[in-house]
Amino acid sequence: MTQNPQAVDLAQIVAEDRQHVWHHLTQHKSFEDNDPMVIVSGEGMRVKDAKGKEYLDCVSGAVWTVNVGYGRESIANAVRDQLVTMNYFANSAGNIPGALFAKKLIDKMPGMSRVYYSNSGSEANEKAFKIVRQIAERKYGGKKHKILYRERDYHGTTITTLSATGQFERKGQYGPFTPGFVEVPHCCEYRSQWGDVDDYGLRAANEIERVILQEGPDTVGALCLEPITAGGGVITPPQGYWERVQEICKQYGLLLHIDEVVCGLGRTGSWFGYQHYGVQPDMVTMAKGVASGYAAISCTVTTEAVFEQFKDNAGDRMGYFRDISTFGGCAAGPAAALENMRIIEEENLLENVTEMGEYLLGRLNELKDKYQVIGDVRGKGLFCGFELVKDRQTKEPVDESLPTAIAADCMRNGVIIGRTNRSFRDLNNTICLAPALIATRADLDELVEALDGALGRLAPNS
Ligand SMILES: Cc1ncc(COP(=O)(O)O)c(C=O)c1O
Repeated sequence: MTQNPQAVDLAQIVAEDRQHVWHHLTQHKSFEDNDPMVIVSGEGMRVKDAKGKEYLDCVSGAVWTVNVGYGRESIANAVRDQLVTMNYFANSAGNIPGALFAKKLIDKMPGMSRVYYSNSGSEANEKAFKIVRQIAERKYGGKKHKILYRERDYHGTTITTLSATGQFERKGQYGPFTPGFVEVPHCCEYRSQWGDVDDYGLRAANEIERVILQEGPDTVGALCLEPITAGGGVITPPQGYWERVQEICKQYGLLLHIDEVVCGLGRTGSWFGYQHYGVQPDMVTMAKGVASGYAAISCTVTTEAVFEQFKDNAGDRMGYFRDISTFGGCAAGPAAALENMRIIEEENLLENVTEMGEYLLGRLNELKDKYQVIGDVRGKGLFCGFELVKDRQTKEPVDESLPTAIAADCMRNGVIIGRTNRSFRDLNNTICLAPALIATRADLDELVEALDGALGRLAPNS
């Protein structure tokens, strides 16, 4: 059957979707009276739905994925060419794009060495957790097996990655969780746990040390953090935070696992978010922007020192990494990733992200000057957000219904934005923006105009 939207009966498609598809993160009751949105085409920053309405997509496929934009024929061609040559073989064997992409990726990540392929961010994180557990088992008699994660971070949708997720509502109703995951406090300075202090970054990092000492350093194997907390409210790290985190990991022998599923591949203006902060991780996971959604691929990247621990004793029949991901062997993923990376380089998209990111932050701060409801504007590169509050003094968050209404208003006006939802008990109050790395000033002006209109209608200053 053809995929050409012109050649299918779109009303029928919408009806069939409504009848048979179970959508992600969606309460379906509303589809008893309304049609689901069905996206049929995309070009650059824009997508079109089945009813012919066009939108400026300011969240790169809703979940910060389509980094190089829609309609990239060169990626589609690279995938097609690869599929007709060799589509799949389990990754116990290699393939051409897998080898080429691993080399190119490692070139962008000084200090890192090995790439393990799988097909989603959650799965990439699970691999890292398994690496920690296996090292604990082999080197420390199973004792150093605990993994620390941070309040407000998210690491995936499986039961174990949810066990490592610091978002109360996101986890709600899915327990019991995997044991051995321990939470450390968040590092959102705007929501400082210690009032107005001038060494917030240091204090927040020292809280990690407090938890390690409380648990017993000989029981803690790793710390898993997002470089910038994404879905938890676009939380950029406070000054001094990462330097201290690195020291703590070294001091207590923790592997530092950085989850770059959102920030990786240019989202913040460097190849990886952690590279802004001068840290050296032991493991890095990535997914979404690796192939911009043209194929499913994720990577768990490690140092040679981590890798070595799985090959140092060939006589130990249990001593190598006994993990497999069936679709980690799909050659379409690295084929798409290679072309995706070429585009980012040749179109100087990292530079564009830095320049446009500063422009967007400036425009959002103008909105903050205009609307009292905006309490805090945060971001790095083309990953920005702002918190909505009832009162700037008390910082009391607005009810989730306001960001929901703002997003719906923008959507009606042809601009797709994001928001935190059903993540926290009372902090579902952040608008999230992550346009493709190709965004222009005109695109961002259109976005800000939509936000301005929505805020003016829904939260005028009173
Ligand atoms: C930081 C982070 N890690 C991991 C994941 C999970 O990725 P996936 O949905 O591909 O499993 C996400 C998804 O949004 C994420 O934001």
